[in-house]
Amino acid sequence: MADSQSRLDAVRRALESRGQLHALNWWPELSSKQRDRLLAELESVPWTFLDRAINDVVKNRPAKPTMDDLSPATVLPARPTSPEIKARCAEAKAVGADQIAKGKVAAFTVAGGQGTRLGVDGPKGCVVVTPIVSKSLFQLFAEMVLAARRKYQALIPWYIMTNVENHTQTVSFFDDHKYFGLPREDIMFFPQGMLPAFDFHGQLILAEKDHLSLAPDGHGGSLKALRVSGAIADMRRRSVDTVSYFQVDNPLVHPFDPLFIGLHVQSRSEMSTKVAKKADDLEKVGNVCKRGDRVAVVEYTEFPEALAKAKNVDGSRRFDAANLAIHLFDVDFVDRISSQAALPFRRAEKVVPYVDDHGVAVKPSNPNAIKLETFVFDALPLAERPLLLEVDRGEEFSPVKNATGVDSLESSKRDQVLRACRWLEVAGVSVPRNADGSPNATVSIGPFFALDSEDVRNRADRIPPISRGAEVVLE
Ligand code: UTP
Repeated sequence: MADSQSRLDAVRRALESRGQLHALNWWPELSSKQRDRLLAELESVPWTFLDRAINDVVKNRPAKPTMDDLSPATVLPARPTSPEIKARCAEAKAVGADQIAKGKVAAFTVAGGQGTRLGVDGPKGCVVVTPIVSKSLFQLFAEMVLAARRKYQALIPWYIMTNVENHTQTVSFFDDHKYFGLPREDIMFFPQGMLPAFDFHGQLILAEKDHLSLAPDGHGGSLKALRVSGAIADMRRRSVDTVSYFQVDNPLVHPFDPLFIGLHVQSRSEMSTKVAKKADDLEKVGNVCKRGDRVAVVEYTEFPEALAKAKNVDGSRRFDAANLAIHLFDVDFVDRISSQAALPFRRAEKVVPYVDDHGVAVKPSNPNAIKLETFVFDALPLAERPLLLEVDRGEEFSPVKNATGVDSLESSKRDQVLRACRWLEVAGVSVPRNADGSPNATVSIGPFFALDSEDVRNRADRIPPISRGAEVVLE
């Protein structure tokens, strides 16, 4: 290992060649502990990834991409009616189940976000989300992994990306709960990368004399983190081919969906995505569409209103595929794109406290800094043969983002009950309903009882009659 003088020399050279030497302004007065901290942070700055972004995205505002070449993407329908697609789906489902059973599929949860909107202390995955029985998001996902291992008699590794701030708490939470019954060696935790904040002139911002202002590098950083952490190498050792990616905040996710996995594998897709019909023309979601001949996600903030409102001749929405942040990745693809600065950096203007040239701590009241992050869906245009599958939103997506209102704990719990009731009815169990059609009972179905509605149908004989106002837990 290089001694500290040669490490400092290397850092100094990297800073000097980029006009960033001010980051060492306070070096002479720092204690050796403070120097260690600052040196480690400066060494972790991925300059080769950032050099261009500082010029193109920080110092300059990137030009708005043209919207002239957008067209709707081809999406496999949620409820296929044509016999050809039905047959293709039936075959794909068997292929997907076989892939899971052979241990070719790994689960990957991204839990490195800061959860600012929800505003809870600690990792979002520890938040209790289920109705009646109090399970955290992490427990729920752990039970899904365990239930899938049992169902498919398969070894399923689970990769969990944290950030440097919530990493220790996340691992302790699992440790305290004995990994929810999963083998410790089949769960890998790793923090995502951090990126420094810059001022509007592209200069590094010191949060303290011995500390850069740093923030997680976005969910797009998950692909690089899979490489840096050794997770890709671990997947190779285990002969995993497909990574099932999901966010920590969506309790309805279906990470081991044999149909989706089978379609992805059969079409040799490098990255596949689930979409749902948009709730309304201007819904605040990413629009999955085509840009030129590549599939891409265009955020609602950038999507032209005229396109958002455009209709087909039959009156249906022309651009009607909402990104649900549920993806499958081919391991080779992750390997390939994580070795380069493949994903574009996005620019966010933020208020960032800093120490000024006189060493005084300043809390600005207006945005003074640019934070850079990458988004995982920006990998879609880079993927060959991407596959898009439409699903019913209420079956697979109800994230916990906000403290109240839309996408909150309350709405997510309600959607979990609604889905459980639908699964019961599909299995032939009658659910008491109110005049407005809402269920007049609260039902919670745990992953050990059923991972999908088919499992419920197979266990229908174990379900008691549901009376009005009842609370029913199926575990
Ligand atoms: P969100 O964009 O909803 O952000 O992340 P968030 O941090 O959870 O919440 P807010 O915006 O601060 O309120 C979507 C998913 O991506 C993960 C989150 O943990 C969540 O699962 N994520 C986001 C990361 O893993 N890393 C990031 O840098 C950003």
